[in-house]
Amino acid sequence: MKDLAGKHIVLGLSGGIACYKAAELCRALVKAGATVQVVMTDAALQFITPVTMQALSGRPVFSSQWDPRKAAGADLGAGVGNNMAHINLTREADAIVVAPASADFMSKLLHGGADDLLSLMCLARPLDTVPLIVAPAMNREMWANPATQRNVAQLKADGIHVLDVGQGDQACGEVGDGRMLEADELLYDVTAFFAPKVMAGQHVVVTAGPTYEAIDPVRGITNLSSGKMGFAIARAAHEAGARVTLVAGPVSLPTPRGVQRVDVKSARNMQLALDMYMDDATVFVSAAAVADWRPASASDQKIKKDGSGHVPTLTFCENPDLLAGIAASERAQSGQLYCVGFAAESHNLLHHAQTKRARKGVPLLVGNIGPATFGQDHNALLLVDEEGVVEFPHADKLSLSRLLVADIARRRAIWTTASA
Ligand code: CTP
Repeated sequence: MKDLAGKHIVLGLSGGIACYKAAELCRALVKAGATVQVVMTDAALQFITPVTMQALSGRPVFSSQWDPRKAAGADLGAGVGNNMAHINLTREADAIVVAPASADFMSKLLHGGADDLLSLMCLARPLDTVPLIVAPAMNREMWANPATQRNVAQLKADGIHVLDVGQGDQACGEVGDGRMLEADELLYDVTAFFAPKVMAGQHVVVTAGPTYEAIDPVRGITNLSSGKMGFAIARAAHEAGARVTLVAGPVSLPTPRGVQRVDVKSARNMQLALDMYMDDATVFVSAAAVADWRPASASDQKIKKDGSGHVPTLTFCENPDLLAGIAASERAQSGQLYCVGFAAESHNLLHHAQTKRARKGVPLLVGNIGPATFGQDHNALLLVDEEGVVEFPHADKLSLSRLLVADIARRRAIWTTASA
């Protein structure tokens, strides 16, 4: 299912060069399954035409409070207008997203100004059912100005969801904070806004990807884990309201928005990172495919062929079992830290997952078939706990991660109460 299926978004544009990004955002929202109704201020009309926004949203654009047309949602009979666009436009909306929100528009919102359709509509929205999300966009000096910062703080206090700004080159030639987030970032934030905040207040630490164990400075052993599942879990946990630390082995995936990422190479690096970030963690999801063994001694120079045909012999030693160590810690044993293990198997999944859960001492173990899922965007999961087994059938990794995170939140709450 698409992320925003069934959602109706009123997309408001106020004046700013970032209006071009609103066109991309509109397209992205529609692609994600939302229906989009665009409302533009006069200033926005200076930057982008309503024709563009109508073509992208598939609906006529509204820009004047004197527009007599019937707005979608007003059941007046065909062709009958009521001059009530400021009311009718929001009554079926799941959210109003103002992107870009100029400094002037935010100041107007703050004071309850209502001399154009967009601000009038924001003022007239039902507070309990239609949240307002704004994406600021302005020059860095305007953004840094105490007046703007005061307005942002007050808008937040009024319950308006003010998104972050981006940083970098600005249309005016200056560089700094204040540019509007990119369309993909806005889409992420709008999607995350709708996610139930079942992990609010939690600190979730996730490991992901393979580890790399050096043989010499140019060679090493690793495995086929792509990190996609762990990264999707980190994203889903962040969407669910958690603070998330993602300890990632060597993979080249983009960091999910809002997630703190710590890059590591070897299993021992991963252990050091976990030692640093685990202190106040409340959930640990060990999705990394940690190498079981490493070369007993890595050469600090490249091992050369000497021309004799002699093949070097590698000897291995065992890496620490990170998950088992953390699951045995005092915080995990006393109910403050809920640990979830993974099992990547090639066969006999249920049997191995059950055995591994007992061996690692974790309340929940998630089994999957490694060769079928490594590098893929899809997976199927088998959740094994003390009582039995639950199956999450084949789906994309993000959908599975959202289900898994919701399930972990539910289990953690029960488990914490039982362990207290
Ligand atoms: N794990 C770990 N440290 C290790 C090995 C594994 O923390 N040194 C964690 C993995 O992140 C995963 C779980 O333990 O959550 C199971 O990993 P897996 O590789 O499936 O199992 P192993 O313990 O390595 O056992 P085996 O290789 O025999 O299947």
